[in-house]
Amino acid sequence: MSNYHIKNLEEYFQVYNKSVREPETFWEEIAEEHFLWRKKWDKVLSWDFKKPEVKWFENAKLNITENCLDRHLATRKDKTAIIFEPNDPNEKSEHITYGQLHERVCKMANVLAENGIKKGDRVCIYLPMIPELAISVLACARIGAIHSVVFAGFSSTALATRVNDSDCKMVITSDGSYRGKKQIDLKGIVDTALEECPGVETVLTVKRTGAEINMKDGRDKWLAPLLEQASATNIAQEMDAEDPLFILYTSGSTGKPKGMVHSSGGYMVFAAYTFKNIFQYQEDDIYWCTADIGWITGHSYIVYGPLLNGATTLMFEGVPTYPDAGRFWQVVEEHKVNQFYTAPTAIRALAKASVDFVNKYDLSSLKVLGTVGEPINEDAWDWYNINVGDGKCPIADTWWQTETGGIMISPIPFVTPTIPTFATLPFIGIQPALMDAEGNEIKGNGVQGRLCIKFPWPGIARTIWGDHARYRDTYFAAYQDKYFTGDGAKRDPVGYYRITGRVDDVIIVSGHNLGTAPIEDAINEHNDVAESAIVGFPHDIKGNALYGFVILNEERETEDNDQLRKEINQEITAQIGPIAKLDKIQFVPGLPKTRSGKIMRRILRKIAADDAKDLGDISTLLNPEVVQEIMDDAL
Ligand code: WT7
Repeated sequence: MSNYHIKNLEEYFQVYNKSVREPETFWEEIAEEHFLWRKKWDKVLSWDFKKPEVKWFENAKLNITENCLDRHLATRKDKTAIIFEPNDPNEKSEHITYGQLHERVCKMANVLAENGIKKGDRVCIYLPMIPELAISVLACARIGAIHSVVFAGFSSTALATRVNDSDCKMVITSDGSYRGKKQIDLKGIVDTALEECPGVETVLTVKRTGAEINMKDGRDKWLAPLLEQASATNIAQEMDAEDPLFILYTSGSTGKPKGMVHSSGGYMVFAAYTFKNIFQYQEDDIYWCTADIGWITGHSYIVYGPLLNGATTLMFEGVPTYPDAGRFWQVVEEHKVNQFYTAPTAIRALAKASVDFVNKYDLSSLKVLGTVGEPINEDAWDWYNINVGDGKCPIADTWWQTETGGIMISPIPFVTPTIPTFATLPFIGIQPALMDAEGNEIKGNGVQGRLCIKFPWPGIARTIWGDHARYRDTYFAAYQDKYFTGDGAKRDPVGYYRITGRVDDVIIVSGHNLGTAPIEDAINEHNDVAESAIVGFPHDIKGNALYGFVILNEERETEDNDQLRKEINQEITAQIGPIAKLDKIQFVPGLPKTRSGKIMRRILRKIAADDAKDLGDISTLLNPEVVQEIMDDAL
């Protein structure tokens, strides 16, 4: 018998130790007992972090949607799979049973196939948080097409880059979307993007807002009439365990986003197993993760993890503050939510509003709380614990990444004693290591270093789409035979981990992973800009906000500095999206650089944080005099 559901700390240690001592046996038992395979594997694991190459469940055959849907039909046909809660609280929510979801996914799968999509083709999904988003994801998986969901807050330029990088043949979108009071012209954004995307043959469009849109002849089709005619029978495509299931883009240290590729078999096992244990899901529970399916959190813990476990998962279309700061809590009360998973940035924003917005609602259904996306500060943790959890719900501070596919370090609720701001212990099967600057592993407790993982787990991304060399260089080159996360961490005297934040050029703003390079590229597009550097600085709601240091051309067209700031942010919104806008923009005569020409962000970070007392040794800079000038004008 495998330990699918950990019940106490002793069992955690026992299972953890087994998963480290005999990882193949451990994962084989989990895979064998809890999933439906068309054919079992020849070998559980082959790996070589030098190449790098990782293969789990080699030569096994499956389809993940048979595991998410078909196998539940015998026992859970009438159980709710998805609760859809619309943006507008006056619009009725929708309950979709496993039986209905199965039928809708089969129909959608047939529509995709009838529109020329075959196994291995890439399909870009650019939709708001409506049921069709989850259904499109599953329909792609059903026919073996590789889905690439692009968060529907990204701009047309960002969308075009992602569509082209993976040669998507089709885009699935909607006429428009609702976000709080705002209506967004999604189809218009798609139309602009597709001017640059010659490879897209078909656009399937969901009617959501009823906004007036253009339909391009021969390319654009309304989805509803196609679904009406589609057959409700669909035989799932047989996939190899290592066939790609999806691509999901994350930003990196160059302007080009990285298309992380996840596998069919290993990802399935890891998403399902982590979901079951970390949310302590019980058969009749209602589970809600507030993320968007455009991020990995939504892939693993709104769609795949919950459905693989036959859970009821809530999809929320709106925003936390519409119509007011009580919306999350109103939804918890209305649907009697048992597990609630959100981001520290949302908690901080809601903690700013009156606590009456929380106290107005009955939150007694809650059993487990979770957070993800960035380090959570102690105030936010305490507010969440007391006001939302009433001091009775364990908080799972879950550390993981787009690249890891699932949760890597987290307390197991009711099992692992929690400490505010600590992600606590590695999850079963995860072997973290802290490394020093010389590349040696730091052993023992009460230490701090760069966080690596030294053994493969089933959910690890297998490559970067079209650029395996970049995959190697980004994750496997810094430390020999280890996956480097890009984060720093402390291990306290009892072995608990506390993530201290990124150690590379990635800044986490409101839980979104933003690379400095693409934002700087966008700023530099402005005619008056010569060069720029951006850094993060502490912000009480967003965690980090962006501070831009910008060198202007000597002969500038726009003399008005405020106008320039506005235009720079417009440029960023157009290239990336509003999430990457700068809070502060300082015009500077130069940027501190090393002799090899690398911008010393460390110095800029200190100036931005108003903490420039001790800048360390700046004498090795190419232009140390510029530092004082920047400090004098700091915002
Ligand atoms: C980066 C990954 C995983 C889904 C959301 C973000 C930071 C994530 C935590 C946490 C401290 C965290 C890390 C990580 N991060 N969770 N609980 N505590 N930091 O996915 O966009 O790939 O970003 O988010 O810096 O490397 P992502």
